Amino acid sequence: MVGDVVSAIGTEKLIAALPRLKKEYAADVTVVNGENAAVGNGITRQAAEQIFAAGADCITGGNHTFRRREFYDYLDESEFCLRPENYGDAAPGHGICVVDKGHVRVGVVNLLGTVFMEPLENPFDCMDRALVRLQDEVHFTVVDFHAEATAEKRAMGFYLDGKVAAIVGTHTHVQTADAQILPNGTAYMTDLGMTGPVQSVLGVEPSLAIEKMRTHLPVRFQNPSGDCLLQGVCIDVDKANGKAVCIERISV
Ligand SMILES: [Fe+2]
Ligand SMILES: [Fe+2]
Repeated sequence: MVGDVVSAIGTEKLIAALPRLKKEYAADVTVVNGENAAVGNGITRQAAEQIFAAGADCITGGNHTFRRREFYDYLDESEFCLRPENYGDAAPGHGICVVDKGHVRVGVVNLLGTVFMEPLENPFDCMDRALVRLQDEVHFTVVDFHAEATAEKRAMGFYLDGKVAAIVGTHTHVQTADAQILPNGTAYMTDLGMTGPVQSVLGVEPSLAIEKMRTHLPVRFQNPSGDCLLQGVCIDVDKANGKAVCIERISV
C-alpha cells in the first residue's frame, strides 16, 4: 500500500520505483492513494492511467478526489479507482472493490475520516456495511482510511482488529512510525506518508506554504523539484485465516 502520490513529480517517482519494489517484495496486490496525483491537486484520467500503468491494482482517494469535475465519469466507469465509500450514493463512483488475482481475492475499502474533515456518514457504520457486502467474496480485506486525526485512525484500527487484514491511514503526507500487528491479527499504521518531494510542506513548495500560513490569502500552490520519496508499507497476510503476519514500513 502506497501513500498519496503528489503531482507529476510524485507520479514519475512511482513509475520509477514501484515496479522494482513490487518485484522485491513479491507483491500480489498493490493499492496506491492517488488523490493528489494531478498537477495542481486532485486526480485526472491521465494521472490515474499512469498509476495503473506503474503497477497499481487499485487507486484509493480522499478529500481531493472530487476536485475536478471532468474526473467524475472516470470514477463511475472504473471498477478499481475508488473514492471514500462514506460520501454516499449521490456522489460519483464507489469506495469498495474486489481485486481478483486468481489465487487470491482481496477486498479494498476506502473511507474518509469525519474528525476535522467533511461531515460524511460515520465511517465506522459505513465500514460495518462494507464488511457484510464483502464477507463471502474475498479471502481478506484491506482499508485505506483517509483521515486527519490520529485518534480517529487508531480507534478505527482497534475497531477493525480481527475483521480485516490491514487498515492504514493516508492524508497527512507524513509517515508515522507505528506500524504494528494489533492483538487480533490486523496490520495497522496511522499514515503511509507520501510519494512526493522531500523538501516540501506536504508536497508544496515551502515558500508558498509559508505565504499561505502567514497571510491566509489564496495562494497558487506549486510543487518543488528535487528528490522524491516513495512511502508506504508491505503487508504479509496468511490467506488461510486472513490475518496479517507482518507489516514493514517502506520509505525509498
Ligand atoms: Fe493527500
Ligand atoms: Fe487528503
